[in-house]
Amino acid sequence: MSDDVIVVTGGSGFVGSAVIRHLIRESEASVVNVDALTYAATPASLAEVEGHARYRFERIDIRSAPELERVFSAYRPTAVLHLAAETHVDRSITDPRIFVTSRGRSRTKHAALGPFPPTFHVMAQ
Ligand SMILES: NC(=O)c1ccc[n+]([C@@H]2O[C@H](COP(=O)([O-])OP(=O)(O)OC[C@H]3O[C@@H](n4cnc5c(N)ncnc54)[C@H](O)[C@@H]3O)[C@@H](O)[C@H]2O)c1
Repeated sequence: MSDDVIVVTGGSGFVGSAVIRHLIRESEASVVNVDALTYAATPASLAEVEGHARYRFERIDIRSAPELERVFSAYRPTAVLHLAAETHVDRSITDPRIFVTSRGRSRTKHAALGPFPPTFHVMAQ
């Protein structure tokens, strides 16, 4: 096990779950999946990592700054892969606001720049 701790937001989605399976298989990093489990999530795609010693799951909405700060304080990640987002474009016709707020860039960035800044921070959007 290495000292690396990687927070993956949206880790229960299409891209995030593949990234987490890859990280657990191919690295020695610990991985914290931060996901609200919306309609878009596919938790079954993480079956192979459930219960793994280096895998943790936090069911939180990235729009909640206090919850993000709690996660960053608790795990002190060395890297963040920010993949959580509203991605089903057809839904933007009926409610475009959630596409703006669920991107959560400012809150994730704010938490990442807090007292425990990671050395590496990637956003997919
Ligand atoms: N899938 C692609 O081909 C593709 C291509 C280019 C870029 N991207 C980008 O990669 C990222 C991930 O895409 P995807 O296809 O895995 O999306 P997805 O819809 O499969 O997964 C999104 C995940 O984010 C979670 N989520 C949504 N809102 C949340 C919130 N407020 N708080 C916490 N979790 C929340 C959902 O529960 C879900 O698990 C997106 O930013 C997308 O724009 C995807």
